[in-house]
Amino acid sequence: MNPAKNFYTNLPKPAFVLAPLEQVTDAAFRYIIAKYGKPHVLYTEFTSADGLCSLGLERLIPDLRYTESERPIVAQIFGKRPETMRHAAEICRKLGFDGVDINMGCPEKNVCKTGAGAGMINDPSLAKECIYAVKEGAGGLPVSVKTRIGFTEITLEEWVNHLLETKIALTTLHLRTRKEMSKVPAHWDKIHRAVELVKDSGTLLYGNGDVESLEQGQSLVDETGVDGVMFGRAIFGNPWLFNPRVAREDLSVTERLHVLLEHAYVFEHFFADTRKHFLIMRSHFHAYVNGMPSAKELRIKLTQCSSADEAHAVVRDYMDKPFVFDPPAIHSKPNLEELREIFAV
Ligand SMILES: Cc1cc2nc3c(=O)[nH]c(=O)nc-3n(C[C@H](O)[C@H](O)[C@H](O)COP(=O)(O)O)c2cc1C
Repeated sequence: MNPAKNFYTNLPKPAFVLAPLEQVTDAAFRYIIAKYGKPHVLYTEFTSADGLCSLGLERLIPDLRYTESERPIVAQIFGKRPETMRHAAEICRKLGFDGVDINMGCPEKNVCKTGAGAGMINDPSLAKECIYAVKEGAGGLPVSVKTRIGFTEITLEEWVNHLLETKIALTTLHLRTRKEMSKVPAHWDKIHRAVELVKDSGTLLYGNGDVESLEQGQSLVDETGVDGVMFGRAIFGNPWLFNPRVAREDLSVTERLHVLLEHAYVFEHFFADTRKHFLIMRSHFHAYVNGMPSAKELRIKLTQCSSADEAHAVVRDYMDKPFVFDPPAIHSKPNLEELREIFAV
């Protein structure tokens, strides 16, 4: 890793960062989050390294779109073949990302059974090979690992020690095992031992799981000495989460509906030419109107919408000021031929 490129060391302490959330934190939502309450780091949804190094490249590349306003923006990849992991990291570097994160925490059966995601916890040698390969491909960009604290049992100490051997810039621990999925409260009591292990290693440590507000994140940092906190589900319907000056509850219905509409129009603007379907917006609508007066009625109507214009027509009568869309710049389209050369045999 090139120390000059390791932006993590220049972040405020503690760092409050946005978790990768597949089908949620795409470039459209991240644009909205960066505008209304910017975290210290943003991560893309996870993207398959094997998929990127195949004919699937063109289909997957929209998942790696971002806007300049998101920086520092980190690409998250998953896989278990060092060769494709290295190529995928190089693709991320060519796309201009600020770092590459490796997903070693995904609990999904079809990912784990191939040995990727949380499956990596069961094969530390291969995990380390993949990390070294990603470091090579990332060409000096900081490489990090987001993982869990064990597969079936908690094996935090052994697993974190393996990760530290590779001198990664950061590890983020989702404080549950793979077996626990998200069914039990996150084991924040286990972070103390991890803090001791990373001390003086040069690797930073962020904790993740069940954190709902900046205040709660700050208390956990004060209690445990962890370098940062990653927030996941708390962002649903609340792009103001990272803004210390705004509480969603204090905003007017019109202000909240304007952001809902802006998000819907940005989604169409960014993804009209891709396989990303507007249905993704329906779960966002559901979360945005949560707690509003007339929420039930709005939710029912909005979750039937198939376009931003339809959503606009639904909410028009609930707003006391008209909404006007100002389209943001789209990140320039990558040269696919150049990217294909990275993994072409
Ligand atoms: C809908 C959804 C999608 C997720 N997608 C990813 C992903 O792409 N990559 C990843 O590392 N974790 C993913 N996760 C896990 C989250 O990043 C995070 O670790 C987990 O939700 C716990 O944090 P929280 O309690 O703050 O939500 C996902 C979780 C959810 C609920």
